[in-house]
Amino acid sequence: MEKELQQIKETILEEVKKIKDSQVLRDLELKYLGRKGELTTILRGLTKLDGEDKKKVGALANTIKNEIYTVFKDLKSSIEEKGREEFVDVTLPGKKSERGHLHPITLIQNELEDVFSSMGFMVLDGPELESEYYNFEALNIPAHHPARDMQDTFYIQGNETEKGAGGKSDLVMRTHTSPVQVRAMQKYGAPLRCVAPGRVYRCEATDAVHEHTFDQMEGLMIDENISISNMIAVMKELLKGVFGREMEVRVRPGYFPFVEPGIELDIKCTICGGAKCPSCKHSGWLEILPAGMVHPNVLRHGGIDPDKYSGFAFGLGLTRLAMMKYGINDIRLFNGGDLRFLKQF
Ligand code: DAH
Repeated sequence: MEKELQQIKETILEEVKKIKDSQVLRDLELKYLGRKGELTTILRGLTKLDGEDKKKVGALANTIKNEIYTVFKDLKSSIEEKGREEFVDVTLPGKKSERGHLHPITLIQNELEDVFSSMGFMVLDGPELESEYYNFEALNIPAHHPARDMQDTFYIQGNETEKGAGGKSDLVMRTHTSPVQVRAMQKYGAPLRCVAPGRVYRCEATDAVHEHTFDQMEGLMIDENISISNMIAVMKELLKGVFGREMEVRVRPGYFPFVEPGIELDIKCTICGGAKCPSCKHSGWLEILPAGMVHPNVLRHGGIDPDKYSGFAFGLGLTRLAMMKYGINDIRLFNGGDLRFLKQF
């Protein structure tokens, strides 16, 4: 019996070492010390012994029983202690939950929408899958016009749906946001002030400065007596909104079939301040805003009388602007889905 007692003690101590949670501890306690537990049964058997044996084995049994009780008790409180630590250590810093945030292009777009809303411009949307008519023809770029080659177009086959002025019209992924100009004129008439931000598509091989998908913001203002001075004033206001300060600009002639005259507005290089650096191709200036006075043909397509109204339009490259503002040197990062890049904004 003595041997049996020693053995059971060793087994219990061995098993106890492996215990890590209180449920297993309870099960083990029941197994040995419960009413029908193994140790309890042995202790009960003591009554059958007699005389000296009973005294000797009884004393041993008691010692072992107390030892085991103590082991169980200590273990129980150490497990409880640990549990408490894990639960309510209020001094530990909280876990920060991940939150989504806005894409850098969306940030710039929102800023610009605020600037233009404050000047009374509507913010409009247009379809990305656009008819050839609105993408080209209505913008004074008829079929076979060499200007169609200025933009490499994704044509969508077999969708001759929208009727242009000259008949059927295929669908294209819009190559610019300019088609929203004519849609807006047709819908709202003159006078009109609107901007139309959105995605545009070009069939281009990608590299650090070319993407097949990027963002633009079209702007349009039509009223009686709108002149180039109005255009430059609005564009300087726009740049102030984006860069947070007055920007030095210069205006050069530019050609776009839907404006006459067309201009290119440049800003002093934001990197070198005009001292000439690789970012501005050593010219001191950055090309940022193509614009012009809306061509009479485009006004006519929009149902607006060019003898009564005039207006200006511009096509801001949102993606390009974001690159300048944040100093991003590879356009592919915007749609690349790399969180290490996106998390910086
Ligand atoms: N749509 C032109 C492009 O993507 C940009 C543009 C130029 C828009 C002149 C305009 C404008 O409204 O007046 O290349």
